[in-house]
Amino acid sequence: MTARLLDGKATAAAIREELAAQVAERVRRGLPPPGLAAILVGDNPASQLYVRNKHKACQQVGMRSWIHHLPADITAARLLGLIEQLNADPHVHGILVQLPLPPHLDESAVQEAVDPRKDVDAFHPENAGLLTLGRPRFYPCTPHGVVQLLRRHGYETAGKEIVVIGRSNIVGKPLALMLLQKRTVPNPAAGDATVTIVHTRSQDLARLCQRAQIVVAAAGVPAMITPEMVAPGAVVVDVGINAVAGRIVGDVHPAVAEKAAAVSPVPGGVGPMTIAMLLLNTLRAAQLFQDSSKPS
Ligand code: GUN
Repeated sequence: MTARLLDGKATAAAIREELAAQVAERVRRGLPPPGLAAILVGDNPASQLYVRNKHKACQQVGMRSWIHHLPADITAARLLGLIEQLNADPHVHGILVQLPLPPHLDESAVQEAVDPRKDVDAFHPENAGLLTLGRPRFYPCTPHGVVQLLRRHGYETAGKEIVVIGRSNIVGKPLALMLLQKRTVPNPAAGDATVTIVHTRSQDLARLCQRAQIVVAAAGVPAMITPEMVAPGAVVVDVGINAVAGRIVGDVHPAVAEKAAAVSPVPGGVGPMTIAMLLLNTLRAAQLFQDSSKPS
């Protein structure tokens, strides 16, 4: 079997078109375009590329976007001062602080400084808590990208056995929550699935993965998911972005495509979907801002 490709590039382009139409309609009604401020600290080349791609994507859909590029030795006080300024700026609906930060900066303190209503990454504890309770304000971008990539290729998660490999706060944990939770009106992207989270300390990883109808690999280990670990006909989503000898490779070994029903490529799978979901959250943040400033 050669697996079907879960084409994140094309799917994200379709989502961007839908968002561009919604932004244009907003502007036609006299509302300001959604605005996203990205903060980049230091000169990590991967982070620079991600932030540039996010900026370009905003422009493609008619949103405003600003990049605040700060030196690697910026003090915490100055960074927090900028966040405070952006929290108060009515043109800025979404704020993202690109991770990782240099080691002298406390990532948790920085994430908590962002106004949770502008926290389009959904990293703030308030937004993590709301997601956990099944009352999400924003879905975190990469987990939401995975869910939408599956759904838009016709793969339903309700009732399915899904194994999530990785337990990070950015991907594994929130994705497992989304897949697990009841799909309801306030929680429309949730999954109704039976979810297992596996990680580096799990015993017999292969046996745990083999029972899954859908496998999501988010471990950050190049090519760790091999064909023996995957059931014939499984759907495999690769969240890995690993630099190996100057190339970007995923967590899924290429030979898995001979056994699985569908696989997402790296690059061109979850990566573009993450950015599309960031745009969706920025639009949502602008809508929430406008709703909160209506006279009651
Ligand atoms: N670094 C790696 N992934 C992400 C992400 O989704 N958001 C931010 N802000 N930084 C990241």
